[in-house]
Amino acid sequence: MASERRGALITGASAGLGEAFARLLAAEGHDLMLVARRAERLQKLADELAAAHGIRVLVCPADLSKPSSALYLQHQAEAQNFQVDILINNAGLAEPVSFLNYPAEDVRAMIEVMVTGLTELSHRFGQGMAARGWGRIINVSSLAAFAPNSPGMLYTGIKSYVLNISQALDMQLKPSGVHVTALCPGFTWTEFHDTQGTREWANQLPAFAWQDAPTVVKAGWDAVSRGEPVCIPGVVNKAVASFTKHLPERLRYLFGKRARMVQ
Ligand SMILES: NC(=O)c1ccc[n+]([C@@H]2O[C@H](COP(=O)([O-])OP(=O)(O)OC[C@H]3O[C@@H](n4cnc5c(N)ncnc54)[C@H](OP(=O)(O)O)[C@@H]3O)[C@@H](O)[C@H]2O)c1
Repeated sequence: MASERRGALITGASAGLGEAFARLLAAEGHDLMLVARRAERLQKLADELAAAHGIRVLVCPADLSKPSSALYLQHQAEAQNFQVDILINNAGLAEPVSFLNYPAEDVRAMIEVMVTGLTELSHRFGQGMAARGWGRIINVSSLAAFAPNSPGMLYTGIKSYVLNISQALDMQLKPSGVHVTALCPGFTWTEFHDTQGTREWANQLPAFAWQDAPTVVKAGWDAVSRGEPVCIPGVVNKAVASFTKHLPERLRYLFGKRARMVQ
């Protein structure tokens, strides 16, 4: 075990980056609380990781689009005497079209999962971490947070919020021993583009644009351990972010109007 044994709550642990975080933290000897809607997947992963690493793994199926889910998870942690010292706010989804074109309940669900839920979980568990003098929070944002927005795209605004609030939290909590990092991946091999129906489009991107999930989560975990408030994994993504964030506002708007970028 590389560090002291801690308890980690991971949202979106049934697939992709969340599952990769579970594997990484389990290998370091940390106990896990796994959250997502697909209970069977969580249970299978929990059984495997508990057996392989001798750790405690709680399975907490929950739909984070429900406004009560953050409170429910806090109650679950307390009831099971599970101390959350590491919080990975990872669950997320995107819609490939303008948000005006999909049902209002889907708009609300996206905001609930990636904005309200993420913020409330940081609030509920961040306070305890600060009081105990140690904590790590990774909020999964996106390279999209640095990119120009595109017509009707809700996702970019949401991920910009995640980047912004993570920095604000880190500024406040760092003196108490709690590090907060916004992890901003670019294109990563997970189920994300299948779920949103953009796999065919994404497959046309060059191989160098892609990273695998274990590489991305390792970069995020190393960054939060070092106390870096923002992590853009990979040289290609760093170059893209550095280019797009320095564009003059008017050019950003014009590029955005013509672009199609969902990640
Ligand atoms: N892959 C990329 O290219 C990429 C790039 C930049 C940023 N990201 C971000 O990375 C994060 C993880 O995405 P991923 O790539 O790992 O995608 P993924 O493979 O599709 O996994 C998404 C996870 O989120 C969970 N989730 C979605 N809606 C949920 C809900 N209502 N309640 C609870 N859990 C929910 C899913 O679990 P259930 O379906 O079982 O509930 C699943 O575990 C997201 O925040 C995404 O925006 C991804």
